[in-house]
Amino acid sequence: MSTLGAIAIAPDTHWVGALDPGLREFDIILKTANGTTYNSYCVRGSSGVAIIDTVKESHAGEFFTRLEQVARYDEITAIVLNHLEPDHTGALPELMRRAPQAKLYISNKAQLMLKALVKHDGLAYTIVNTGDSVDLGGRTLHFLNTPYLHWPDTQCTWLEQQGILFSGDVFGCHFCDSRLFNGQVGDFRFSFEYYYAHIMRPFREHVLDALELIEPLPLKLIAPAHGPILRDAPRSYVQRYRQLAAPLLHNEIGASNKSLLVFYISSYGNTSRMAEAVRDGAETIPGVRVSLYDLQGGGNLPFVDLIEEADGLAFGSPTINGDAVKPVWDLLSSLAVIKVRDKLGAAFGSYGWSGEAVNMIEDRLRGLKLRVPIQGVRARLIPTDEELGLCRDLGKQLALHLTGSIEHRVIAMSELLTQESTHA
Ligand code: FEO
Repeated sequence: MSTLGAIAIAPDTHWVGALDPGLREFDIILKTANGTTYNSYCVRGSSGVAIIDTVKESHAGEFFTRLEQVARYDEITAIVLNHLEPDHTGALPELMRRAPQAKLYISNKAQLMLKALVKHDGLAYTIVNTGDSVDLGGRTLHFLNTPYLHWPDTQCTWLEQQGILFSGDVFGCHFCDSRLFNGQVGDFRFSFEYYYAHIMRPFREHVLDALELIEPLPLKLIAPAHGPILRDAPRSYVQRYRQLAAPLLHNEIGASNKSLLVFYISSYGNTSRMAEAVRDGAETIPGVRVSLYDLQGGGNLPFVDLIEEADGLAFGSPTINGDAVKPVWDLLSSLAVIKVRDKLGAAFGSYGWSGEAVNMIEDRLRGLKLRVPIQGVRARLIPTDEELGLCRDLGKQLALHLTGSIEHRVIAMSELLTQESTHA
């Protein structure tokens, strides 16, 4: 354990977290070349002491050692949980055993997770929302409901008298340096940006909602749950979030136009011809900008940015060995970092023997919560004129869906009865 003691971040407010410099991967998906910190804070008022978040269970020892340097367990009146992921709640059950009188403050959506973490009857907690506060005597904690950053349960806590925002994962990053404060730890910008891109970016709309609550605060310091404490120019990190949450691409086609991206990859030019037909069909509908991209020639990163801004996506892949081809899967697996839910999706492709790719892509798109209302088009080897016509119709139908002008067919009861008798 590091010999670092509890660190004052403001009068009567201390960092009591833990350092994890050896961590090289977080939650399997994040690289952490500089390790991470699990930041916990202790706020002392004249009538109470609050602990804001705890640490990962493996680091509970150093958390309790630091906490004991600034507070007795019987003084703790409040435990605020801004986020219940185990890297912040690992030491919670033990803290609750040591300070059984302390009240827990959580967001409404955190209840389920709290009950899963602390499994005992009679678990008591207080649900708080934006506008609620806790008075510690000369120190007031105000709660800001900021859900989906990056779990449904997340909230921020504002310490009014000292101008400190305890922000949870928001404004955090995986970067461990025992000098703790942003003005002292060296250049960690890459880590801040990387963390945003992988953790917060899929929740851009929720970031914007949270900024509406955070921006008016007279911030003196941001105390996130990971990485450096933002004491120097804290507002610049808020401004950076505002920039990062803005659309990445300049919208030169105007907000009234819809965007359809057609991606394809082709071995013999057959899926490529189908892609062109999808494009041609979509282009017949005004108000939709159709873009065509060969996955063989592009990197995923620019495509991910394009997809984030697009309204509809169509993927063309041949079937090889009973599967869609790797560049298609690679692109689809890159979409976890952006919000694709409710975009329009479709698939098409040429095949030799079995033709599974189209269905597989459609299933994946549905798994990503895209809407896939139109059945994809498959063509054995060289698409016939009729099959190219189906591709043009697929493009046209996609465009009509995007412009909201799809014609919903009204089926008369008499028609249904006729169909029934035909199939009898
Ligand atoms: Fe740092 Fe989402 O936990």
